[in-house]
Amino acid sequence: MLPASLLQAAADTYGTPLYTYDLAELDAALGRVRAAFGDARVYYAMKANPNLTLLRHLHARGVGFDCVSLGEVSRAEHVGARGEHIVINGPAKSAGEYEAGARLGATFIVDREEEVALLPAGARALVRVNPALDISTHDHLATGSTASKFGVTLEQAPRVLQALRDAGHVALGLHVHIGSAIRDAQDFTAAYARLEALRPHTGPLAVLDAGGGWGLGADLPGIAREARKAADVFGAELWVEPGRYLVALSGTLLTRVIGTKRTGRNFCLVDAGMTELIRPMMYGAEHPVTALWDRPAGEGETWDVAGPACESGDILARNQPLADPQRGDLIAVGEAGAYGASMSSPYLTRSRPAEALWDGQAWQLIRRRETPQDLWAAEE
Ligand SMILES: Cc1ncc(COP(=O)(O)O)c(C=O)c1O
Repeated sequence: MLPASLLQAAADTYGTPLYTYDLAELDAALGRVRAAFGDARVYYAMKANPNLTLLRHLHARGVGFDCVSLGEVSRAEHVGARGEHIVINGPAKSAGEYEAGARLGATFIVDREEEVALLPAGARALVRVNPALDISTHDHLATGSTASKFGVTLEQAPRVLQALRDAGHVALGLHVHIGSAIRDAQDFTAAYARLEALRPHTGPLAVLDAGGGWGLGADLPGIAREARKAADVFGAELWVEPGRYLVALSGTLLTRVIGTKRTGRNFCLVDAGMTELIRPMMYGAEHPVTALWDRPAGEGETWDVAGPACESGDILARNQPLADPQRGDLIAVGEAGAYGASMSSPYLTRSRPAEALWDGQAWQLIRRRETPQDLWAAEE
């Protein structure tokens, strides 16, 4: 995390709630990915954080984009990505997504056999395989389990590859993405092993896309070794699609204390909550909470950090050992660069927060705070 004085300065300048990003952390994460995965092609899953400044930074470093909506494809196009720098994922793509993908020469990740007939003529495509495993992550984050809606079965995969060829498309190979925030490398090993078993039925392939999903503490070199081994089995080039791993650590959500309340539990009420960071409520995610003030703590006293929304579930973190929080104090919620700002919502007509980037020299506002007028503009 950046020094408290820098974070204080950003909050004073831009107000709170505020998403801040440290460019050096983003570069460090990209460096770790490239060190582990060597010459694998990296497609950043922009759903994790689609801010244009971050996209431009990654695009300039040769990173492509994994897009899952027309809006995301439009962002990729807007920052200059084309052709081999765009893959389009999703279980139910719209006509607009096929059209944009065709126009830009993107690669489509086919999610069901029926999709073959919907692809634009001569499309480059990968077939997403669901390895049907028990994945060690939150149920809502598992995409490689039988209960998940994603991908074709192992049995269907060779047939879908053949259907692509028969329809005149370019069947590049296979894709697997088993979920998100996965820390246990065994899950990836098991998924790749199931794919490797398809080799006699598929023959050699041009590409194996090993997806993303790496949790922050994951053994990246270990996962990379297994992914490379699987690609080699097919004689394929390796592609990966990290989202969280690239941006999570670079981001910190700054929020100010509005007040406190003691009702049997101690509540520290802050100006950010579920509308700014929904992960604690949606996935039970635990983000590190740091008090950016210096005051003696009450003996053993802990606080539930609660947001301002009129929703009981609007709790950012429970049982935090905050030292006598006071109105105006600043709290930093860490590991918030992924699925933080991108999942923030205008629920309750709350304006989505501003975002600021520390480039090593200065703060730069990379998204202004929305105004109420922004939120109702489409209704006038
Ligand atoms: C197809 C696909 N690829 C990559 C990702 C990125 O996952 P993560 O941010 O966990 O790396 C996702 C996330 O849901 C995804 O659906």
